[in-house]
Amino acid sequence: MVDLGSGAGLDVLRAARAVGPHGHAVGVDLTQEMVALARRNAAALGAANARFVVGELEALPLPDGFADVVVSNCVVNLVPDKAQAFREAHRVLRPGGRLVVSDVVAHRAVPPGVREDPQAWSACVAGAVSLPEYFRLLAEAGFHAAEVLEESQVECGGPWRVSLRSVTLRARKPSVRPPSACPRDPCAGRTARCSRCYNRLDAAPGRPNHGLPV
Ligand SMILES: C[S@@+](CC[C@H](N)C(=O)[O-])C[C@H]1O[C@@H](n2cnc3c(N)ncnc32)[C@H](O)[C@@H]1O
Repeated sequence: MVDLGSGAGLDVLRAARAVGPHGHAVGVDLTQEMVALARRNAAALGAANARFVVGELEALPLPDGFADVVVSNCVVNLVPDKAQAFREAHRVLRPGGRLVVSDVVAHRAVPPGVREDPQAWSACVAGAVSLPEYFRLLAEAGFHAAEVLEESQVECGGPWRVSLRSVTLRARKPSVRPPSACPRDPCAGRTARCSRCYNRLDAAPGRPNHGLPV
C-alpha cells in the first residue's frame, strides 16, 4: 500500500503490520523532516517492511501499477492541483486497485478571500472542495465506483466560518482497460465495442474481465 502525505508515518506503520512480512507499506511526503521522523518511528518499531520517500502527490516517485491500495488522510485539501494528484494516484495503482481518502470537504465553494489566505490553507480550510467536485475529479482521473464510506459532523472552519465536514471516500481503478483497448477487429481502435466482439471476449474460456488483459 501507499500512503499519500504520510506525515509521521503512523498509518503506514499500521498498514505495515496489517500486510505482513511479505507486503510493503510506503509513505510519501513533501517534507524531508516528516520523512525523517517517520523513518525514526519505523526504526523504533522495527517495521522492516515500511518505507518512506520524499515526494509530491502531484509527481509521485513510484512506478506505474505499483500499489494494491492507495490511502491518504487529510492531505488532498492541501494540494492546489487535486486533478493531477488523483491522476498520479490512479497511475501508481494496479488495475482493480482501490483508493481510500479521508479529507475535509466544503458544503459550498470556499470564498475567494479565504482561498488566498495562507493560514486558511494550513488550517485545511482554503483548499477544501465540495463533495460533487471531489467525485468529478476522481472520475476525470479514471476512478469509478466512488462512494462515501463515512461522514463526520459538520465543522465550522474556524474564524473563516466555512462550513466543512470530514468524509472518507473509496474509489476503484477499473480492472478492464477502456473499450478502445479492444484487441481485435472489428472493434479495434473504436471507443465502444460492438455486442458481437463484447460477447466473444466475454465468453472466452478462462479469461475474466471480458478477455482483456489486466
Ligand atoms: C495534515 S498532515 C497529515 C499527515 C498524515 N496523513 C496523518 O494522517 O497524520 C499533512 C501532511 O501532508 C504533507 N503534504 C502536504 N502537501 C503535500 C504534497 N503536495 N505532497 C506530499 N505531501 C504533502 C505534509 O507535509 C504533511 O505531512
